Amino acid sequence: MIYPSTISSKLPNSGQSIFSIMSGLANEHGAINLSQGFPDFNPDKKLLSLVTEGMRKGFNQYAPMPGLLSLREVIAEKTEQLYNAVYKPDSEVTVVPGATYGIFAAISAVIREDDEVIVFEPAYDCYVPAIELNGGKPIRVELKFPDFRIDWSEVAKLITFRTKMIIINTPQNPTGSILGAEDMQQLMKLVNGSDIVILSDEVYEHIIFDSKKHESVALYPELAERSFIISSFGKTYHTTGWKMGYVLAPENLTKELRRVHQFLAFSTSSPMQYAYAEILKDPSTYMDLPAFYQEKRDYFANAVRGSRFEILPCYGSYFQLLKYDKITDERDEEYAKRLTIEHGIASIPISVFYRNKTDNNVLRFCFAKSNETLDKAAEVLCKI
Ligand SMILES: Cc1ncc(COP(=O)(O)O)c(C=O)c1O
Repeated sequence: MIYPSTISSKLPNSGQSIFSIMSGLANEHGAINLSQGFPDFNPDKKLLSLVTEGMRKGFNQYAPMPGLLSLREVIAEKTEQLYNAVYKPDSEVTVVPGATYGIFAAISAVIREDDEVIVFEPAYDCYVPAIELNGGKPIRVELKFPDFRIDWSEVAKLITFRTKMIIINTPQNPTGSILGAEDMQQLMKLVNGSDIVILSDEVYEHIIFDSKKHESVALYPELAERSFIISSFGKTYHTTGWKMGYVLAPENLTKELRRVHQFLAFSTSSPMQYAYAEILKDPSTYMDLPAFYQEKRDYFANAVRGSRFEILPCYGSYFQLLKYDKITDERDEEYAKRLTIEHGIASIPISVFYRNKTDNNVLRFCFAKSNETLDKAAEVLCKI
């Protein structure tokens, strides 16, 4: 007998994540790994020495529950500069151990049994489990292939008295699509007069291309007043392994978020908060990011242009989608595995981001890699 014998999984449908599977396969077969979304280069040396400086200065014990005030202040300044929105550091900015955590805490703070949450698919994989663990019901809406736009009239039909939250993500993972001003207008119309909360995942706010403007909900007071905005330092400073981010929200939402946060992690790494508070004082450290990643996007796209893969548009994030229907009609999961094992290049199949495993024969490649890695990857792809 195994005890406790009555335990039944609260997440029966989630097995090993595709990221672990593909990275595992990549390691096993010595493949170039463009599957998981993280840079293969190091952060700015200055940021590294700032962490040490923080440790030497004694930032080694629990930070205040909402985050170091110096960091919250500089986050508020940055938000005001960029989006003309005022968030009070003491009651509307919370530093958290990563965006995934911020998303989980925000969902836990407001979602109850049978609440409905609108989620756009293909969706980043942490939204649905967080909704389900809190007894909520994900209501999925597919983004329209091939440009992954939202059909707002379809969303409108799905709104009921149970709709508690809408989750948006711009720039979007895995598709690289972005929301435009017209999308924000539609969203505003949709939630106007309702109690719907918006969770806006903006972790790629500084990875947006072709001079496009990032449509933060912070730009729209009617949306901001009902929104959690989720940001990640990991994406902006090439430090995904440090797991740090922040949540912006009006006071009433922040109060509930912090009620969860104080019993989930309570606080976030002190020396790293010190370091980010210092580095954020130099806006070029995030304002130069679009150009940096645009160059990488173009470098990779130019290198695979001669291949049989079709390059889909990428407006933001560090993911390039490649369509392979001219090569094979295999399902994307099968083809991604075969590419790794037989050709030595790992990617992520897009169907895993849909509940129904919608398959458009598209794979996601992460281009947050050194040019040398991108060259090697492109050479392989061009030979297929
Ligand atoms: C859309 C999206 N949201 C959230 C996260 C999680 O960010 P963090 O590593 O800060 O938890 C990621 C990471 O890949 C992401 O792509």
